[in-house]
Parts: sequence; C-alpha cells; structure tokens
Amino acid sequence: MYKAKQFNLSGLQGISDQTLEMHFKLYEGYVKETNNLQAKISQILQDGKVDQEEMPAYSELKRRLGFEYNGMVLHEYYFGNLKKGGSGKPDSKSSFAKAAAASFGSRDIWQADFTGIGKMRGVGWAICYQDPTTGQLSNHWISLHEIGNVAGYNPVLVMDVWEHAFILDYKPAERAKYIEAFFANIDWSAVDERLQRPAPRAFHAA
Ligand SMILES: [Fe+2]
Repeated sequence: MYKAKQFNLSGLQGISDQTLEMHFKLYEGYVKETNNLQAKISQILQDGKVDQEEMPAYSELKRRLGFEYNGMVLHEYYFGNLKKGGSGKPDSKSSFAKAAAASFGSRDIWQADFTGIGKMRGVGWAICYQDPTTGQLSNHWISLHEIGNVAGYNPVLVMDVWEHAFILDYKPAERAKYIEAFFANIDWSAVDERLQRPAPRAFHAA
C-alpha cells in the first residue's frame, strides 16, 4: 500500500495555495486508485492463476494501473522539484547546469527545448531525463501520465502541464505564464540530488 506524501509548498510565486490544495487532492486520488487496483489484481491472483473468464477484467485493471501508477509517481517528482523561495536559474556551477550545457550546447538551449515541450497542445508532462549510462540529459513529452516515459531513464525535472496545474491561476491559453511561474519556483538542489543518484546496477537473475 502506498501512502500519499506530504509537501509543504504554500507561498509559491504565481502558483496559488488554492491550486496546490486542489492538486494535492488529485495526487491523493492517484495514490488511492493505485492501491485499489493493486488490491483487485492481487485478488484475481490469489488462486495462483488468471482464469480465461478473468482475463477481460484483469487486462483492464492492468491498463489502468499504468495510468494511475505514473500519475502517482510523476506528481511526487513534480511537487518534489518545487519549493518556496526557489529560483528560475540553476547555479552555473551546479551539476544540472553543467549537464544541460554538455547535453544541449548551452543551458539556454536546454531551457528552450523544455519550455517548448511544455507549450505543446495536449494533456501531459514535460520531463527532463538523465540517461543513467551516459549521464546525458534529454527532454520528453509525456501524454497522459504513461505514454512516452523512457524506460530506465532518471527523471530529474518534471513539469505538469495538465490544465488542472494552472487553471485556477491562468486561462487555458496562458500556459506560458504558468511555465514561467513553474520556473520561478524550481528547487534546483532537489534536481541536483536526483542527478547525483548513482546509476542502477544491472540486474542479474540468480
Ligand atoms: Fe497534475
């Protein structure tokens, strides 16, 4: 069973407490639904097999699990890379600034790409990942929560661009203003900590 994490983010610039409270409730819904789906799946598995007549229900539960599970995890990354008193630009000596410059030619080009993804029409996320084998950064568009995630890559900066992330503060056409506000509140030290995570060891079956 997963438990919803608590985030103390009130007083952000350009993202209201009202938005955050609504967003935390949505996140808690993903945690609850992930737990519900896992409970239903384990019930089906209790007799040690998936019977043919159980297959349609089992398939639908598994499909929904990808959506709810990623919805839960991505919101934890998103809230985890924001803080009150954050700053728009990382320190030029930070690991992130160096990795962005090495991967994109300059940090500004990295930001133009990340922001460009954030402005894409549709429902989803802009995510900067680190390739755990080379350390290289790349930015990706994620539809819904589960389509477009790069397997095994490490999310280092995660931006929610579903309308619920900003609709109480900005008009639907003002996504760019929300993206500016997101940048003003980034916790770059949290981003750096994610980068410094060691690459996972290859798994060898016994
Ligand atoms: Fe969200």
